[in-house]
Amino acid sequence: MSSAKGIKLVDLDADGVDRAFRSDVLAGLRQRQKAVPARWLYDDAGSQLFEDITQLPEYYPTRAETQLLKGLSAHFAERIGTGRAVVEFGSGSSVKTPLLLQAIDPAAYVPLDISGDFLRASAEELRSKFPGLSVYPVEADFMRQVELPQEIAQLPKLGFFPGSTIGNMVPRTAVDLLRTMRQTLGEDSQLLIGMDLIKARKTLEAAYDDAAGVTAQFNLNLAHRINRELGGTIPVEELNHEARWNDDYARIEMHLVASKAIAFNVAGVAFEMAAGESIHTENSHKFGRRSSNTLLLAGGWTPVARWLDDQERFSLILAEASIPRSAP
Ligand code: AVI
Repeated sequence: MSSAKGIKLVDLDADGVDRAFRSDVLAGLRQRQKAVPARWLYDDAGSQLFEDITQLPEYYPTRAETQLLKGLSAHFAERIGTGRAVVEFGSGSSVKTPLLLQAIDPAAYVPLDISGDFLRASAEELRSKFPGLSVYPVEADFMRQVELPQEIAQLPKLGFFPGSTIGNMVPRTAVDLLRTMRQTLGEDSQLLIGMDLIKARKTLEAAYDDAAGVTAQFNLNLAHRINRELGGTIPVEELNHEARWNDDYARIEMHLVASKAIAFNVAGVAFEMAAGESIHTENSHKFGRRSSNTLLLAGGWTPVARWLDDQERFSLILAEASIPRSAP
């Protein structure tokens, strides 16, 4: 999928199949540890299920980050100040984004998202909440450098990337994205980023394997999507959702685990899974003070403030575009 000048291009073949989805799934299922990139979890059903996850009692990140944003307005006003252009990486949440905008009274708001419909709907909602604010939605893939609207060229920028979405990337990809953000935002910019914290394994595993089974549905939806869109024959009833803490990499991993030996086809290609074998579908990295600092520095950002919620579950970090130094 790619986008240019407001036109979203999904590369479909003659049968209407998304080529990128097919090639990611086929390549991923051929690996020794089967894996499908997490971005494919988010079709319409998956996006709705993720919204449902954010309301679950076990899924603390959304509540913890919202609580932080509510309590930090004086700090934001002091550290960020007024008159910046806020560039949000993603469409923006109807709860979190207004809390930031109220606190810093920006000159403009620019949400960047690859999904145009959702982007325009959330931009409209913000326009009605903040009638005096200039809102310039940009339909773009923010994993690549984005040309920002001319109207905000002279304004200092604040990038906003909440939700610990950075944790869904392996470090190499996360560093690439942080560097790309810096190129998009320019020299004197700041970045406010949400990063979920390392905590008790039980709390983490429960957050990604809730009692109501919503996260299981979210994960299994990927197998249903493969069957529906790629002519798959995966016996979904033989797959179980599992959330595993990987302590070496400080991340929760989601897997779809085969309950018995199975064989299936996807896009005409045959695959087998032994009992207990899994398809790895998502990583959600968790951070400590040092690992978040290191990641940001590697991505070209100097952390200048870090705030935690009262139960120390989640962090919001303010960073500044680093001046490149040649000295060690
Ligand atoms: C979107 N992202 C930050 C979520 C997370 O916590 O890693 C996705 C998610 N996966 C399962 N539950 C939530």
